[in-house]
Amino acid sequence: MNTINKVYNEVFNKLRGFNSPHIETELIISKTLNLEKVQIYTYPEKIVPQEKLQLIYKNLNLRLKRKPIEYIFNEKEFFCLNFYVDENVFIPRQETEFLVEEVIKLISTYNFTTIADIGTGCGNIAISIVKNIKSNIKMYATDVSIKALDIAKKNAVLHNVEDRINFVLTDKLKYFIQNSIILDIIVSNPPYVTEEEYKNLQPEIYYEPKQALVTPTGLEFYKYFASYGKKVLAKDGYIVVEINPNLYDKICELFKKNNFCICKTMYDYQNLPRIIVVKFEK
Ligand SMILES: C[S@@+](CC[C@H](N)C(=O)[O-])C[C@H]1O[C@@H](n2cnc3c(N)ncnc32)[C@H](O)[C@@H]1O
Repeated sequence: MNTINKVYNEVFNKLRGFNSPHIETELIISKTLNLEKVQIYTYPEKIVPQEKLQLIYKNLNLRLKRKPIEYIFNEKEFFCLNFYVDENVFIPRQETEFLVEEVIKLISTYNFTTIADIGTGCGNIAISIVKNIKSNIKMYATDVSIKALDIAKKNAVLHNVEDRINFVLTDKLKYFIQNSIILDIIVSNPPYVTEEEYKNLQPEIYYEPKQALVTPTGLEFYKYFASYGKKVLAKDGYIVVEINPNLYDKICELFKKNNFCICKTMYDYQNLPRIIVVKFEK
């Protein structure tokens, strides 16, 4: 008989070589069977129906082909909210939560009202910000990918904030420059993996859209923000960006060369420089 316990052991054995086999086994079983994780342990002798068993094997096989678990179950938690994700969008990463925290702090400290999230992906940054700010801010969420923007809109509906975010299909800051819109904060987690680095990543990464990850040198977006940011930033505005830690010095140099000062550097869980806050100095 296929009890939960037996199936658990079978799935776990197949995932032994993975980084977190226990967590992944729990996820595959609980999500497929629609159970709380704890129920795996409280009902170990419960029988898994045949059609559910087939579904568990299907999901396990996808995972064995290195498909990220977030794409298998179309879900990723970010800033304590669940986001729909699929292969058309980048999977939000934990370190990006620091970026959101910093923007929320800036908005609250300076009563900022106009913010743009450039390259919104599934909308996680923009949505987390508006969900945590009570005041009426004008939030823009932009992307060049229409598919990403559709997913971001779907997530905004899911979190009941679709009326609080303006979704714009545009390349970098083009829309704001063309429409003379002035921003208090430009926030972005842009593509920053270099073509060279892209050759040697974990197999899971290749399921994500390359456009969301890679630019030729990893510097292109920062070069652009450093040159064009001034055109759209308010006098006391900030740029808050996630960066490639390997390019930290080069990125700081780019901003400084364009008369920005680096107000703050934030480090990730591995103590690598991951986020910078920059401000234009006249
Ligand atoms: C690293 S992902 C970040 C997604 C999400 N903001 C997050 O932090 O999890 C970068 C995003 O930038 C978008 N992007 C790529 N090139 C762009 C461009 N030229 N203008 C605007 N967005 C762009 C990609 O489609 C992708 O959604």
